Amino acid sequence: MLVLSIFVYKYQGISQEKSTINEEVDYLVNARSSTNVTLRQLAQKSQMKIGTSVLIEPLRKDAKYREVLAREFNTLTPENAMKFGKLSQERGNYNFADADDIVAFAQDHQMQVHGHTLVWYRNLPNWFKDRQFSRQELMDILQKHIYTVVGRYQGKVNSWDVVNEAVNKDGSFRDSIWLKTIGSEYIEMAFRWAHEANPNARLFYNDFEAEDLGKKSDTIYNLVKELRRKNVPIHGVGFQMHTSIKKPPNYAEVAANIRRLNELKLEVKITEMDVKIHNQPVAVTLAEQAKVYENITRICLAAPNCNTLTTWGLSDRFSWIPIFYKSPDAPLLFDQNYQPKPAYYAVAKIVAR
Ligand code: G3I
Repeated sequence: MLVLSIFVYKYQGISQEKSTINEEVDYLVNARSSTNVTLRQLAQKSQMKIGTSVLIEPLRKDAKYREVLAREFNTLTPENAMKFGKLSQERGNYNFADADDIVAFAQDHQMQVHGHTLVWYRNLPNWFKDRQFSRQELMDILQKHIYTVVGRYQGKVNSWDVVNEAVNKDGSFRDSIWLKTIGSEYIEMAFRWAHEANPNARLFYNDFEAEDLGKKSDTIYNLVKELRRKNVPIHGVGFQMHTSIKKPPNYAEVAANIRRLNELKLEVKITEMDVKIHNQPVAVTLAEQAKVYENITRICLAAPNCNTLTTWGLSDRFSWIPIFYKSPDAPLLFDQNYQPKPAYYAVAKIVAR
């Protein structure tokens, strides 16, 4: 690891004492193109997991997408293919075609798969709509869903976002169909059922805007502490890290939050990182974006309980952000043409250390 890092730095004969980010980025671009070291190779050396979410359409249609995916990443997360509404469009029936193809790609290229997501308030099947379920009915549906999906991928998908986004900004529990019908115990039940379906899987609670300290992350901290106290099988917390150059994360608080979860013996994964620049890319915003990626990578790798960085999308071409916010953006590590951006080199620099 250290040897590779020294090699990368010395190759160009350029000192590490670079002061400005633009100089650093230029330097890293040169170093990378001279050595051909990929992010995946750097990550492998340091036992780190570097990942991206994957969409089925480009995976099927775009050879360049497949090439960059296998070359640069050692883990992937299906972006939509494993969501309940996507898998089960009719009650009792499952269509695993998309999810199976993504898992098969990962296996063919020795990549891990992080499953996303078993219990969420969004992307519910259409057959949920306009129907009232009793508490027992909904528990049966959820248990069957978790057994079916986790069971199918046992041995192939060995970590899961079990419960996704169950907490509101103000720290209250989200008023989802699960909470309303089953009560807050649905969280504990989901983790227990996932563990029964695959006792080897590492199980995560995953949420956004709860990376720093505050009402939302305090509720999550208290929730997972209570789950640990009750011996519920939970292994970690996913920090989605959907962030922006206009409002970058509070780095000291992110580090403190990772630390307090370490005290509960819980892992942290950065599960869905992207950094909005709020427009078409220009050098200065790309450099600011690189700095956010760099800082988060450094904080994660410095912690004993964090070694996964997954971005929410491979290339700016397929990010959810311009669609959702109806505004141009470029939040990821690779540009529209699959060229690595300054953020890529900034992450590589930290991983190479
Ligand atoms: O595939 C259909 C397409 O056939 C159809 O023509 C089109 C018309 O709207 O919709 C397409 O499906 C969309 C799908 O993305 C694929 O692009 C859905 O409408 C759209 O709702 C879906 O959005 C996804 C969203 O979750 C909701 O499931 C985003 O891709 C995905 O990036 C986003 O991911 C979430 C995480 O799961 C949880 N954390 C937050 C994150 C960002 O919102």
